[in-house]
Amino acid sequence: MKIKIAPSILAADTARLGEAVCVAQQAGADWLHIDIMDGHFVPNFSFSPQTVKQLRPWSKLYFDVHLMLDQPEKYIDAFANAGADLITVHAEAAKDREALRGLAAQIHARGIHAGVSIKPATKVETVKGLLADFEVVLVMSVEPGFGGQKYIDAVTDKIAALRQLADKENPVLHIEVDGGICDENINAPAAAGADVLVAGSAVFGAEDLGEAITRLRDNAEK
Ligand code: DX5
Ligand code: ZN
Repeated sequence: MKIKIAPSILAADTARLGEAVCVAQQAGADWLHIDIMDGHFVPNFSFSPQTVKQLRPWSKLYFDVHLMLDQPEKYIDAFANAGADLITVHAEAAKDREALRGLAAQIHARGIHAGVSIKPATKVETVKGLLADFEVVLVMSVEPGFGGQKYIDAVTDKIAALRQLADKENPVLHIEVDGGICDENINAPAAAGADVLVAGSAVFGAEDLGEAITRLRDNAEK
């Protein structure tokens, strides 16, 4: 599968978010990764449905909304209405597998794609048997809550195990990796089977976003 780069706007200048999104699109981003935090599931706050709604007219990019929320079922409609193309919920925020399946159905009922995210300590087995219910599995390579953290190398083996499972359960599954991705380490998750790589600091912290995205993609594909 072709490598996609998904800049995370958590690392952008949030006082000028519309411009940042526009620049990211011009710089060749494939998806726009929008982190939503409730100060409860993770010890931080970020954006709201209102932010997504106001960013929507700024870009045609695929809006990849990452819900780091407790009770995500309460907010799926709000983010779908705001213009999300993909809504990803955390497996750890669902009380059981049936509830997780129900979240996928609730997202699909809005005509958009569904993703499930697993934290670094959460085993791949948690989503075994569920991969056909989702278009994306978002593998966290940092503890969720903050940008600018270091990639957790142990996650690379999880990505490889997940890709093997996906080959059986859902061969077209996107495996997205999120946290601490940079030029030096992006090849490992890509070689292990990830096809969508989130990059916050590595993109929005760069002088030239276009060059940064091109370098990330080249290093992922080499
Ligand atoms: C962390 C977020 C990530 C983060 C990535 O909870 O889910 O998307 O913004 O930022 P970097 O690439 O700087 O680690
Ligand atoms: Zn994220």
